[in-house]
Amino acid sequence: MSEDLFMLRGEGDPLSNLRESFSIPEGLVYLNGNSLGPLQNKVKQRLKEVIDLEWGEDLITSWNKHGWMDLPEKVGEKIAPIIGASKGQVVCCDSISINLFKLLASAMQLRPSRTKILSQLDNFPTDLYVATGLELILGKSRCTLELRSPKDLVAAMNEEVAVLMLSHVNFRDGSVHDVADLTRIAHEKDILVLWDLAHSAGVLSITLDEWDVDFAVGCGYKYLNGGPGAPSFLYVNRRLHDQFLQPLVGWMGHEKPFQFEQEFVPARGIRQFVAGTPHILSLMALDSALEIFQDLDIGSLQEKASILSEQFLKLVLAEPDLDEFKLVSPTHPSKRGAQLSFSHPYAYPISRAWMEEGVIADFRAPNILRVGFSPMILSNRDIGLAVKKLIEVVQSRSFMEEKFQEKQNVT
Ligand SMILES: Cc1ncc(COP(=O)(O)O)c(C=O)c1O
Repeated sequence: MSEDLFMLRGEGDPLSNLRESFSIPEGLVYLNGNSLGPLQNKVKQRLKEVIDLEWGEDLITSWNKHGWMDLPEKVGEKIAPIIGASKGQVVCCDSISINLFKLLASAMQLRPSRTKILSQLDNFPTDLYVATGLELILGKSRCTLELRSPKDLVAAMNEEVAVLMLSHVNFRDGSVHDVADLTRIAHEKDILVLWDLAHSAGVLSITLDEWDVDFAVGCGYKYLNGGPGAPSFLYVNRRLHDQFLQPLVGWMGHEKPFQFEQEFVPARGIRQFVAGTPHILSLMALDSALEIFQDLDIGSLQEKASILSEQFLKLVLAEPDLDEFKLVSPTHPSKRGAQLSFSHPYAYPISRAWMEEGVIADFRAPNILRVGFSPMILSNRDIGLAVKKLIEVVQSRSFMEEKFQEKQNVT
């Protein structure tokens, strides 16, 4: 392999200064920002202040004094421009799984004469599990989950389908759906659409309002860098706000929670989607993490991620010793998210041995090595180093060592 390919630098990279904002161990190449985004120095400082001052000294008065009560909407408003939503349509609370339940159940209410949730065969498991749970509660005659391969989705959109639920970027192979197109086709058949943006929010250009999407959910802990277990966000198009009541009603979505009324009266607008007490420490971390997006063009993040992934792919394809890695992601960067997935019979032990060499990526069952390209923290140099280490792991066969064989709980 040509040494030059390892020497490419971030010259001309307008985003190269972003890395300084992050606290990443020296020498580590982190190819896992698509699973857990890295920590920013600012977030560390903010959490310390919140713990010491807001929780430590001001205690319960902080709900009023430091605006804790409004954090779900405040953080939602910070996420809104990142996903192309105008004000009042995004709120940040709970997990994607819980928010999917709220939105799928709402969609079924909005289409009372329709019985199907249409989704993709290899959609992320939690999305499918939540739909199955709803099937269980409502009964199959009222709600059935129907799964199709991507190429058969349009043909399956008929008058029985209430809602189309898909992921913008597939978690396993990174393939991207054309959200605008599928949303338009679904709407022509009066089908609602719900997009899971877990692997695209913060790294791909998204214009939910322009695409006229009905519902969306997404992740705070991946490309938004909100920290482990950061709350999810949910988007509900304004034109639907007064048409239904989401079923996971809780006191924090009440118009006046501290009146402690017997009867549930929903808060106006997007607040009604908050059920219980907001997770303040997690929301604070995410709130602070989102500041970096303020002056950033998401298109430039997408472009850089695509350059990095092309660079990685080129290096892998050029190395004969890596020919057992088979690309399962789309070959054209515009057809995939900020990731590359390769199948390999030893993908798991290789991911472990690579980690020991200072390169963190992840493994997805049954045999996928998944490499994420977080554009805020990576340079071409990191990519060169990562591939160099991968070649060393494969050539030395260090991945065959006993200690790399046993699967850990989280891969
Ligand atoms: C596409 C997708 N949806 C949902 C989730 C999980 O969401 P949560 O744990 O917030 O319920 C993930 C987690 O990685 C994901 O990749």
